[in-house]
Amino acid sequence: MAANVFFVIIPNQRKMVDAMSAGQEPDVSLGAMGAQRSLHNNYFTLPVLFIMISNHFSMSTYGHEWNWAILAALSLIGAGARHYFNLKHQGEHKVWILPAAALAMICLAFVSKPVPIQPSLSAEESGRAPLVYSDIAPIIEKHCVSCHAEPPNNPLWPMPTPPKGLNLTIPSAVKAQAANIMAQAVHSKVMPLANQTNMTDDERTKLGQWIVDGALLDAESTPTP
Ligand code: HEC
Repeated sequence: MAANVFFVIIPNQRKMVDAMSAGQEPDVSLGAMGAQRSLHNNYFTLPVLFIMISNHFSMSTYGHEWNWAILAALSLIGAGARHYFNLKHQGEHKVWILPAAALAMICLAFVSKPVPIQPSLSAEESGRAPLVYSDIAPIIEKHCVSCHAEPPNNPLWPMPTPPKGLNLTIPSAVKAQAANIMAQAVHSKVMPLANQTNMTDDERTKLGQWIVDGALLDAESTPTP
């Protein structure tokens, strides 16, 4: 959108004004090209607003494995809604467009809804030995501490302090955040951010299993007689 403004719309306008100031006939095709790019930007208004807000509420958009397809569908729906208003400003009332966009939105929410990973019965319920911290430590090490450490050391996302002050190199901090971790990395795939390290469903299930078993640190496990 910015490139349309800075490389086409403004330069073309300037060329036309320059031609007029020099007493020449301005090239109207330059104006038409600018108008076409403005129209493209106009159709992108709603998708861009969505992209700006969505990174704070990632849920099933960028945490989803089909994130690009969801974004493409949302952009089409957004452009459709914009089309309704464009026509309305020209005096045409196509009333069916907005309900169709709303229906498409509902269908999209339905097909993209996350399929939560459900850890099975707790250790107590199933009579097996509970998982302890050292069982899941390699998962945290591999997928979380590049960002959640003091200081973070993620080559793709340089940051001065761990996000939300959450330092997951400390086992007791992981335990204290168990409910949050369940929501962010097991029930949804929001973490690790953009699944940069390709965390698998098996790893998520194991992490969830540790939490269901009581998020035990190694020292807290009672040795089975
Ligand atoms: C690439 C960097 C990165 C990685 C890797 C990462 N996180 Fe995060 N994490 C973030 C960012 C950024 C936020 C803050 C998001 C926000 O503000 O909405 C966050 C927030 C969180 C929160 C929410 C804290 C709160 O109080 O709301 C939890 C829980 C969390 N991460 C857990 C994890 C777990 C578990 C892993 C590994 C499976 C992980 N993260 C891997 C960057 C990362």
